[in-house]
Amino acid sequence: MALHRLLGIEIGVPDPDTLEGFYKEIGFTGGNRRWGPEGLPDQLVVEEAPYRQLIELRVGCEGEEDLATIRKNLDSIGVASEAREGKLFVPDPVNKWQVVVEPCAAADIDPQPVREVNRPGERQRLGKRPGVLTEPSLRPPRRLGHVVVGSNDILATYKFFVEGLGFRISDIVGGLGFFTRCSPDHHNLLMTPAPVPYLNHYALEHDDIDAVCAAATRYLRDHEGTQIAGPGRHQIGGNMFWYMRDPAGTFFEYFADMDRIVDEEAWKIREDWPMEDSWSIWGEKDQPEVFFTPDDMEEVVAGWNKYHG
Ligand SMILES: [Fe+2]
Repeated sequence: MALHRLLGIEIGVPDPDTLEGFYKEIGFTGGNRRWGPEGLPDQLVVEEAPYRQLIELRVGCEGEEDLATIRKNLDSIGVASEAREGKLFVPDPVNKWQVVVEPCAAADIDPQPVREVNRPGERQRLGKRPGVLTEPSLRPPRRLGHVVVGSNDILATYKFFVEGLGFRISDIVGGLGFFTRCSPDHHNLLMTPAPVPYLNHYALEHDDIDAVCAAATRYLRDHEGTQIAGPGRHQIGGNMFWYMRDPAGTFFEYFADMDRIVDEEAWKIREDWPMEDSWSIWGEKDQPEVFFTPDDMEEVVAGWNKYHG
């Protein structure tokens, strides 16, 4: 596979300072509008923009020859790209954000110790209190896993990312929600129909379910009114999730234990996921209404119409 990694995103918001304290609070390192989990600086870059938006998506490929192949594929669907500094810069003609493709090493992040658990017939945690209680601090998010975007031309967006850039389809919901990946993760990019292009949420992977629930609980206690959805476990992607709102209005998801696709041939894409019953295996049955109508949707729509409409 040519693409193998989601490297990072750049988010535009009217007041970037609102996110500085937030990223520090959730355990990221960095500063000066460039943040990320330990060892992955710059996974989340924040820029000033007239309205909340996704500015850039950075993905990793294996080598320079991949850049030439991707460029050719983009050419064949009439999308211009620019090769410079050993990377490929591709403005999305539909949604107006930019995709940057660059060669990088295929690597996962370093694991933290697995926490011992007691299961019927398999008791590991003997004479000890649970790790989530005894570890000196909450485990922070480990990396950016995926983003979910809305688009007002979903089929052109599909063509751009799948036929042009080489994202692969993992599953399809309701005929028009495309779960795609640029790595073995079940999804790195979900595209869904929306009134205008916008960033619905970005998702941060945690070590385990304890880490998701402990971090989400602490955030919600300290920031009343930011609950969006969860906890639950998605049918599509299989990940355990909890969604909240960041101080700039974008939803963020803490997740753990997502499906992993390493045998491309063996994976069976399911196209018949029903819209009405694919949200969560347990917890809330239905996707909350707010999920597709964020509080600032009117501002996002007005911003898009003013600058791109
Ligand atoms: Fe998600």
